[in-house]
Amino acid sequence: MIVVSNIQELKKQIGDWKKEGFSIGFCPTMGSLHLGHMDLVEASKKETNKTIVSIFVNPTQFNDPKDFAQYPVKTDDDLRLCEEKGVDLVFLPDVKTMYPETKTPISLSIPELQKHLCGRTRPGHFEGVLQIVSKLFHLTEPNKTFFGLKDYQQFRVISAMVENLNFPLEVIGVPTRREEDGLAMSSRNVRLSRKDRETASLIPRMFALAKKTILGGEREIRLWKEILRDFLLTGSSLRIDYLEVVDPIDLQPKESLEGEVLLAIAVFVGDVRLIDNQIISIPN
Ligand code: PAF
Repeated sequence: MIVVSNIQELKKQIGDWKKEGFSIGFCPTMGSLHLGHMDLVEASKKETNKTIVSIFVNPTQFNDPKDFAQYPVKTDDDLRLCEEKGVDLVFLPDVKTMYPETKTPISLSIPELQKHLCGRTRPGHFEGVLQIVSKLFHLTEPNKTFFGLKDYQQFRVISAMVENLNFPLEVIGVPTRREEDGLAMSSRNVRLSRKDRETASLIPRMFALAKKTILGGEREIRLWKEILRDFLLTGSSLRIDYLEVVDPIDLQPKESLEGEVLLAIAVFVGDVRLIDNQIISIPN
């Protein structure tokens, strides 16, 4: 496995692979890798000849400096995991490499898709994500790129950027990997205390309740959300950042429960922010 930190070496290796006719799969990450990230790698290895993983905790996408400072970093473990999985190249830049001080700041956004969910409660987050991801796309020149569907809004925003700006690549969404109790795998889960981890299991149970109440005939969005909020909050220390029901394509709030809806939540368990979502088909 090749590990590079500077742009020249990265571009040289990619140029060589391109000359040899290899296709490139790219999995951008912020490290602290888990099995969910390895699903991205596996998908990339199935669909392309060479798989690149980037590991970079991107400061511009954190609206809360404390959250950035506490973001877990485990580079040695990450590299070991990538090697075991057969990743071809890890790009491990530092902040100066990605954001040289000489460059004038730029801002990208897809306002319609950022109005709700994390776009509403984390101002500036998607601008930071689009900035780093577009830079990484230019540097790695992938044919296909792989994103986890746990960050569903991120997947939609990046797909829209690729379409709008004619990036010559395909964005592929990879299903969320879950723990035994259904909690979505996340790099942030390691920061949960034992008690908070128990509290976090309310999230998958809430999604189960959401489906059960729909099957039981609930069709009032406001009531449905109230039932789910009550379930999460009664007797627990969890705080809801948002619990929203939106259209899975345009991410605008749904007014009625029909067709397919995206139920998306962000919660704080202790000071750890967790997100999850599921697309739910509403029976006629
Ligand atoms: O999903 C993430 O880990 C990050 O938002 C990404 C896509 C690597 C950009 O920093």
